[in-house]
Amino acid sequence: MTKRSVSVTPYDVQGNVDYKKLIKEFGVQEIDKKLLERIKKITGELHPYLRRGIFFAHRDLKECLDEYEKGKKFFLYTGCGPSGPIHLGHISVWRFTKWLQDKFGVELWFQFTDDEKFLYKNQTYEEIQKWTHENMLDVIALGFDPKKTHFLVDTKHAGIIYPEAIKVAKKITFSTLKAAFGFNDSNNIGSIFYTAMQTVPVFLPNVLKKENKKCLIPLGIDQDPHFRISRDVVEKLRHRKPSIIHGKFMPALVGLDGKMSSSDPDKAILMTDTPSQVKKKINKHAFSGGQDTIEEHRKHGGNVEVDIACQWLKYFEEDDAKLQEIYDKYSKGELLSGEVKKILIDKINEFLAEHQKRRASAEKKIKDFLYTIN
Ligand code: TRP
Repeated sequence: MTKRSVSVTPYDVQGNVDYKKLIKEFGVQEIDKKLLERIKKITGELHPYLRRGIFFAHRDLKECLDEYEKGKKFFLYTGCGPSGPIHLGHISVWRFTKWLQDKFGVELWFQFTDDEKFLYKNQTYEEIQKWTHENMLDVIALGFDPKKTHFLVDTKHAGIIYPEAIKVAKKITFSTLKAAFGFNDSNNIGSIFYTAMQTVPVFLPNVLKKENKKCLIPLGIDQDPHFRISRDVVEKLRHRKPSIIHGKFMPALVGLDGKMSSSDPDKAILMTDTPSQVKKKINKHAFSGGQDTIEEHRKHGGNVEVDIACQWLKYFEEDDAKLQEIYDKYSKGELLSGEVKKILIDKINEFLAEHQKRRASAEKKIKDFLYTIN
């Protein structure tokens, strides 16, 4: 893996990411005011993650909207690498994806990459299968429409994915992957093949249904390198390039560096956490932008930009006016760090209570979501 102070690849995210720079480096387009207006014209409102620049960049989004306005729907594709419990950092892409599904009334293809995680992580096949099952419950609990959502599990749907994956793989050289992901000769050979598997859902629905729809992929921007490769390859296979909409990483509880990780469950909020665990974790670990003493805080105010409770509220306080009021008061020192944390704790616990209720009844719905091979 390439080691830089700031690194963004599917297998390594480090440092405090400069998204403006990333737009240039990756060659993606910024989502500007004009594009936001255009989306709003179709959807009637903008999701808070669009209003707040959390989904901030794209590739060819305009093409999807052009066709949509002419009455031709696209389909959505996103995925989950099942290697541990789902935490709040994972779900921002999926919550946004659900919003897209609802507003545009489109199908979603959701890939569980059990092969990827088996190949990349130090876990047994059985452990990965357990996480695949657990993660499905969380995805279902987010409320996707079972009639319009299809789960693909790489090892279970291999019969339909593999024939297409070899066609993709034949068009990708090892040197391309070395350049894109920093691979070297000691990578296992499965991991080298894997990007072909992640490419397939870009066009698989069209193959299965003999259609020619655009594919729109909502993702965390670390996944973009896979699809940069896909976009070249699928055209050679006479399929359409996917459009992409890129999200920023939700910062880790302990501060702005890097993305959240479930390998340190003490420092990420898991979907299964109890109210008291949430409270404890936030109070103990959430990086504070406040001053050292109350007197100083009242005098100088806190720094909203680095304060994790403030930053996380962007994800959980949907009301713009309320969020702004909290930011204003915190900046002026009228609100203390502990008080903002309390607001966040209540918001998250309210959200998780609902989620956990739906999660408890998700098991019996799995069969409705798994794509049935005819
Ligand atoms: N590789 C992704 C992960 O590790 C999972 C994934 C598969 C994905 N297909 C995708 C993510 C499409 C975003 C879009 O989590």
